[in-house]
Amino acid sequence: MTAAPHTFDVLILGSGAAGLTCALHLPGGLRVGVLAKNAMFEGSTQWAQGGIAAVLDPTDSVASHVEDTLDSGAALPHRAVVERIASEAADLIGWLERLGMPFTREKGRLHLTREGGHSHRRVAHAQDATGAALESTLLRAARARRTITLLDQHTAIDLITTRRLGLEGDRCVGAYALNRNTGHVEVFRARFVVLATGGASKVYLYTTNPDGSTGDGIAMAWRAGCRVANMEFIQFHPTALFDPRAKTYLISEAVRGEGGRLLLPDGTPFMHRYDPRGELAPRDIVARAIDHEMKRLGLDCVYLDISHKPPEFVREHFPTIYARCLEYGYDITRQPIPVVPAAHYTCGGVMVDEHGRTDIDRLYAIGEVSHTGLHGANRLASNSLLECLVYGRAAAQDIARRMREANALPEIPEWDESQVTDSDEEVVVSHNWHELRQTMWDYVGIVRTTKRLERALNRIDLLKREINDYYGHFRVTHNLIELRNLVVVAELIVRCAMARKESRGLHYILDHPGLLPGPPEDTVLTPEPPKPYPHLHPEEASGA
Ligand code: FAD
Ligand code: SIN
Repeated sequence: MTAAPHTFDVLILGSGAAGLTCALHLPGGLRVGVLAKNAMFEGSTQWAQGGIAAVLDPTDSVASHVEDTLDSGAALPHRAVVERIASEAADLIGWLERLGMPFTREKGRLHLTREGGHSHRRVAHAQDATGAALESTLLRAARARRTITLLDQHTAIDLITTRRLGLEGDRCVGAYALNRNTGHVEVFRARFVVLATGGASKVYLYTTNPDGSTGDGIAMAWRAGCRVANMEFIQFHPTALFDPRAKTYLISEAVRGEGGRLLLPDGTPFMHRYDPRGELAPRDIVARAIDHEMKRLGLDCVYLDISHKPPEFVREHFPTIYARCLEYGYDITRQPIPVVPAAHYTCGGVMVDEHGRTDIDRLYAIGEVSHTGLHGANRLASNSLLECLVYGRAAAQDIARRMREANALPEIPEWDESQVTDSDEEVVVSHNWHELRQTMWDYVGIVRTTKRLERALNRIDLLKREINDYYGHFRVTHNLIELRNLVVVAELIVRCAMARKESRGLHYILDHPGLLPGPPEDTVLTPEPPKPYPHLHPEEASGA
């Protein structure tokens, strides 16, 4: 059974910081649809802790923010992009304040915290739960706009382009999405489509990210014919709570920013042996140091200690982390926290220009799904939410300018389920999920080798064939859609990692320990010409 197509001026896939910022900056007269595959608030944005980087202190400067970003990104960030983003930050913090964002204040001013790689206090925050405050501020504003339609429980499956429909040109005209409430696939038609689907860290067994970070937007854009870049740079956050009872939970870098020390089990500090900045070195350096110490000494974890600070200081600055750790029996005002690194952020993604435009006409990508050139080989702490804000606004402004050129939308065929049946073995999906994530953790982690990458690629290849075969024969489910995307993302990460013959930032490979001479370059992957939709032509699309 198929519902009538939904039609919008702008369809935004994703309701995190990027998607909602874009929706709120679009002119009020446009019909805007925002899709989320789970509850509206359930992306990474909701979980952000540390805050949003912005130059707000008179003794700080945009030039210094730019230098810190370039340094953290191992010289790979694009300077012009960094300068633009750093210089728009203060204005966007002002916009959030006007929307009612409850930033933490001290003596009438925004309180700024510090994180690794920043040479100043530069991070505006709402205690240690900035993301939750940001998401509810943006959602409240979006709900108040009559022209914005928010649809949760809708999982986009594939983008619809004129090219894949066999029509003239290469223009994005909508998306197919599974309505999880009804189990039916619906057609969404739109003059402009914006991918704001977040990152892909769920491709690793241990991650700070919520379950939905399965790289759907990257995989959809790749299948539709967009280039992706720099997927080898997966950021591992140094400090996730290590406790078998807890789902990997982040312990904010702001804990180190406010004086937290990293210790071995016997209480010995070690970071100064790796970098003169110690605990406040950029994340790639800290995560690698922890990984090295854990392997060297055969440890399950190291420890993060803030208990030397007054208990009221700790409780006041980190109320959420304090309460969460206490649930697991760790009183962080009195004892160190067991921590390990975990996959945290996708630095690469769908290639976009300064407006967030992708390679396909009328298709934009913003936020963690995109590659703007800001992060280079390692994202500087708290630059991600900032990028979501800057590009959310830029894409909205560009779409508003271009709305007049948008021509009529074509008829779009319904999703055809006549050639598939219900799955007889859903367990195949969960087994493949686990195998894929374990493979990525074991072979494509913090320290890599060519041999391990080759092993990973062989396994991914096998899994991909099995998953595509399954996809071609059975009715789509939410888990299957995510798995099909995860395997694409895994392959893109490994292919990028194999292409980079040097160790730079987050990509550390024992066979190529040094830097290549000359100016650094992005790793760019170009897809094959897009295949027809598998559900319309399963025989042509198998192996897609
Ligand atoms: P998200 O917020 O992840 O939203 C993705 C949206 O896309 C969701 O609504 C989801 O439902 C939807 N979606 C995905 N796939 C589909 C699909 N197929 N169909 C329909 N909808 C779909 N960054 C900072 O700058 N500062 C911090 O302090 C900070 N702390 C962090 C702490 C944690 C624990 C984590 C996980 C990340 C943190 N980050 C931080 C990173 C930052 O939170 C994210 O990069 C950022 O929130 C991404 O926002 P986004 O809008 O791109 O995507
Ligand atoms: C944190 O609070 O440590 C996360 C900050 C970030 O990912 O930018």
